[in-house]
Amino acid sequence: MSTAQWALVTGASSGLGVEYARSLARSGHNLVLVARNRDRLESLAGSIVQEFSVKCEVLLADLHKSRDVARVAKRLRDSAQPIRVLINNAGYGIPGHLDESDASLERDHLTIHITAPLELTKAVLPGMLERGEGRVVFVSSVAGYLARGSYSAHKAWGLTMARSLNATYKSRGVHVSAVAPGFTRTEFHQRMKMDITMFPSFLWLSAPYVVERSLTAVEAGRAVTIPSFRYKTLVAIAAVLPKKWHQAGD
Ligand SMILES: NC(=O)c1ccc[n+]([C@@H]2O[C@H](COP(=O)([O-])OP(=O)(O)OC[C@H]3O[C@@H](n4cnc5c(N)ncnc54)[C@H](OP(=O)(O)O)[C@@H]3O)[C@@H](O)[C@H]2O)c1
Repeated sequence: MSTAQWALVTGASSGLGVEYARSLARSGHNLVLVARNRDRLESLAGSIVQEFSVKCEVLLADLHKSRDVARVAKRLRDSAQPIRVLINNAGYGIPGHLDESDASLERDHLTIHITAPLELTKAVLPGMLERGEGRVVFVSSVAGYLARGSYSAHKAWGLTMARSLNATYKSRGVHVSAVAPGFTRTEFHQRMKMDITMFPSFLWLSAPYVVERSLTAVEAGRAVTIPSFRYKTLVAIAAVLPKKWHQAGD
């Protein structure tokens, strides 16, 4: 890429977000790194600037908070430094069934997976359409193909939005793509305090691999990608199994 363009990554302080940031910098993008952990973002920005000679902004935001989402949306609308790539990546899982979980945690969980990506995508789309080029990624999950609580429902939203938006805008140069990874080695499970010792090693994907598949898919204009043959197969099997086999609580 000759003229540096900008990419904005949410959840850039850890896991998949770090890999998106590094990969986009490697392909010549300047970066806006969004998350809450200042030290981590500044350290990542420093290493990216040094390694890839691109510009890197740190934008601290708690995406549970509407005023913080609005600040990120404002950066996405800035036509002086237009954003070519938006990666809606920030997210996490919460344990427990809906009858037991905390209502405010559920609200935040919905906000980070749906309200925030919706508002950020809405903010960036008009400029992308005007310029005739843009890329938007929703980091979904194989959980989006199942029916296992709020997390599955949120991730299904990302899959459906990507299919719908890609069909609407691809012909105008704006590609929208959801990636649906299975278990990926990041801080996700640790943050959820999930015991992962029962999951066999063949199920685990690496974050660089997931990000490489995702960025290849969005550039190619594919609405959805499931990284790895093993997870494509598992999703295909789940589609033909009786639904009650992969519905939590049934
Ligand atoms: N790892 C997996 O197995 C897996 C599988 C399928 C899908 N995913 C999806 O992949 C995405 C990235 O997760 P990951 O696996 O990379 O996990 P991770 O290592 O725990 O990273 C999560 C990121 O989200 C950010 N985040 C969390 N709450 C936030 C908030 N309120 N405001 C702003 N940023 C927030 C965190 O930053 P701060 O704490 O600094 O704010 C962090 O950068 C998520 O959407 C997740 O659902 C993960």
